[in-house]
Amino acid sequence: MSKSQAAKDPTEGPSGGVLIVDFGAQYCQLIARRVRELGVYSRITVPERAMFTFAHMRPDAVILSGGPRSVYEHDAPQLDAQILQKGVPVLGICYGLQWMAQHTGGQVTPAQAGAEYGRTALEVTDHRGFLAGVKPNSTVWMSHGDKVAKLGPGFAVLAKSAPCPFAVVADRTRKFYGLQFHPEVAHTEDGTLMLKNFVLGVAQCRTDWNPGNIVETKVAAVSSLVGPDGEVVMGLSGGVDSSVAAVLMHRAIGTRLHCVFVDNGLLRHGEREGVEALFRDDFHMDLKVVDASERFLGDLKGVTDPEQKRKSIGRNFVEVFRSEAKAYQRAHFLGQGTLYPDVIESVAAHGGATSVIKSHHNVGGLPKDLDMTLVEPLRDLFKDEARAIGRQLGLPSALVDRQPFPGPGLAVRCLGEVTREKLVPLRAADRIVREEIEAKGLHKNLWQYFAVYVPQKSVGVKGDARVYEDVCMLRIVSSQDAMTADWELLPVEVLKRISSRILNEVKGFSRVCLDISSKPPATIEWE
Ligand code: XMP
Repeated sequence: MSKSQAAKDPTEGPSGGVLIVDFGAQYCQLIARRVRELGVYSRITVPERAMFTFAHMRPDAVILSGGPRSVYEHDAPQLDAQILQKGVPVLGICYGLQWMAQHTGGQVTPAQAGAEYGRTALEVTDHRGFLAGVKPNSTVWMSHGDKVAKLGPGFAVLAKSAPCPFAVVADRTRKFYGLQFHPEVAHTEDGTLMLKNFVLGVAQCRTDWNPGNIVETKVAAVSSLVGPDGEVVMGLSGGVDSSVAAVLMHRAIGTRLHCVFVDNGLLRHGEREGVEALFRDDFHMDLKVVDASERFLGDLKGVTDPEQKRKSIGRNFVEVFRSEAKAYQRAHFLGQGTLYPDVIESVAAHGGATSVIKSHHNVGGLPKDLDMTLVEPLRDLFKDEARAIGRQLGLPSALVDRQPFPGPGLAVRCLGEVTREKLVPLRAADRIVREEIEAKGLHKNLWQYFAVYVPQKSVGVKGDARVYEDVCMLRIVSSQDAMTADWELLPVEVLKRISSRILNEVKGFSRVCLDISSKPPATIEWE
């Protein structure tokens, strides 16, 4: 077998649906998610590959995204205008509209009095079809420099706004639509309705993108890729992605899937036991638990630099996994929980036309020379879709909706050198934080909530004696995607209980502090 390569079937996605051409829009993934929320498959591609992807995917509609550039810049993203000859409906958003105008006989004027940003009211002049149901004076979110100055033959105005005479335009015959604002962002009141009118009304896309169908299709794809006798080995971390991928593959190939769970000694309280109980006892999966904590902690001895810690953990994971995988000689396939955002060829994510597809992101660098074929059944799913199919497969909410936990585990929450002496109180405090927050159901509005071991001695009194012990820091944040985050204030009673339980039940801390820093500038983790 050749070097590690992406599996064909589970990765390429179904045909039909909406092809989204990414001109560098900040919101491109949001467009894709909005379309999928309508029950329609969508896929993002860069302009250079659009025709290739079109031929392969045979979409029912195309959406041209916005982008930060001007159509007048010499290196503005270019798309083969043949895409307008394919006979499928096309929706252009901002740059997408300007590109379409340029290629259909219209005119675009460069930004003169600066760009237009922010909210504006939409004055609808044609309520049929695309704008059906849109409220009068509906608020929309503008963000553009250039604008369309003249429409090409066949186009008409459907709506305008005070600063923009061509806010919504259409050539109904060819089913070309254009918006000078962003329908995908929450600030655009009826944006979802407009996308729905386009995707379901104008383009009549099939609504078969739902958890039940996705599971069925993926199971069939994994079975066909792996074949009747093939075997798969995969690292199961107990996180959402690898768990959902594993259960999905297990449904396809049963005990020909071999899962390896590596206990690196940096896990939270009860994690290993929880994984064993769920996957081995409830799902009857073939699961090998490897206790490699001595090896990981031994290698971390004396290491204080956060990046060196991460490297040491990553290196040991690869070595342990590689030697464990050897035991499964018949397994020529490597399962992974890679998600769509990890592999999207995105102008925005990679900064240019020569974008490189990120690979192996999820496993923190399994080497390419494992010489196995990858099976990545979640490769075209967003995280919320992976969660939905996890529920469909019967995974409990405690797992599917759990907070993210970093690959290097408690090592990045135990500042300085990682030792068993520090991990014991950290793990105990972390358990208390989780117990108290989850008991009150407060976790539903939080992104992450955990304890950090800060090795800073401060004075305290315990019994009659003075003690000098370390600081337990509480980190409780809300976020949408971990790119930005806000600290959250729990009800005082809950904070009091957490603090009092940590100080009374955990040996090693004389002080509990609350981190009230947002990201940016602070990050979520402390290392
Ligand atoms: P930061 O600390 O950068 O974290 O605000 C953003 C998100 O990423 C997680 N994180 C990691 N995940 N390996 C991982 O798998 C890591 O080394 C790592 N560092 C941070 C963090 O928990 C948060 O959700």
